[in-house]
Amino acid sequence: MKKPIIIGITGGTGSGKSTVSKEIYKSIEDKNVVIIEQDSYYKDQSHLTFDERKKTNYDHPFAFDNDLLIEHLNMLMEGKAIEKPIYDFEIHNRKKETVTVCPKDIIILEGILILYDERIRNLLDIKIFVDTDSDVRVIRRITRDLQERGRNLNSVIDQYMSTVRPAHMQFIEPTKKYADIIIPEGGYNKVAIDIMVTKIKSIINE
Ligand code: ADP
Ligand code: C5P
Ligand code: MG
Repeated sequence: MKKPIIIGITGGTGSGKSTVSKEIYKSIEDKNVVIIEQDSYYKDQSHLTFDERKKTNYDHPFAFDNDLLIEHLNMLMEGKAIEKPIYDFEIHNRKKETVTVCPKDIIILEGILILYDERIRNLLDIKIFVDTDSDVRVIRRITRDLQERGRNLNSVIDQYMSTVRPAHMQFIEPTKKYADIIIPEGGYNKVAIDIMVTKIKSIINE
């Protein structure tokens, strides 16, 4: 097996990272691609109560178990399968179950702080920043968190103002400088997605 190529896709919350990753995945017919979400690697918080877990700052680099993420990326690069944690946003914690992920030629790694940790940056072959204005991101986030993450409007607004926005400015936005490619607007930027798919197919067929 040849060494997998790792593509890092980052950007602020609601920028469209997860959608871009899924759109790319859908367009690769032979499915020689795997998506690893940094969200799956939020630290295990089983020792805390639900009310304590609600107060965690999920946009700070400390929130992530990057050691485990890096260990898993290295295993995939060595051709070994991993047991990827499954994250549940409604309970603010990992589930007890894991999912087996087999190595593939292309690994898409997506999340808000993919370009923050130098150790992760050094593993990436292509670095992408999905760049969407914060007003659009916050509207998308409200809609999504109410529909899919068991939140209410007040909780989304409180969290956005107290932790999401400050951490975005302090930790996420500055990582744009590390990107090779900047994709505006995210999710349904068809031209950008087509270009990435063409590149990925050429890597798989090399
Ligand atoms: P992220 O993973 O960066 O937080 P998502 O991909 O989950 O962002 O997108 C957030 C929400 O916005 C989702 O509900 C998604 O369907 C929607 N969305 C993403 N990209 C677009 C787009 N270009 N236009 C409209 N809605 C979008
Ligand atoms: O997909 P997205 O980039 O939005 O996922 C990251 C976001 O998930 C972070 O901005 C963080 O605030 C949010 N999050 C949350 N509750 C958790 C874990 C993460 O709201 N328990
Ligand atoms: Mg996402």
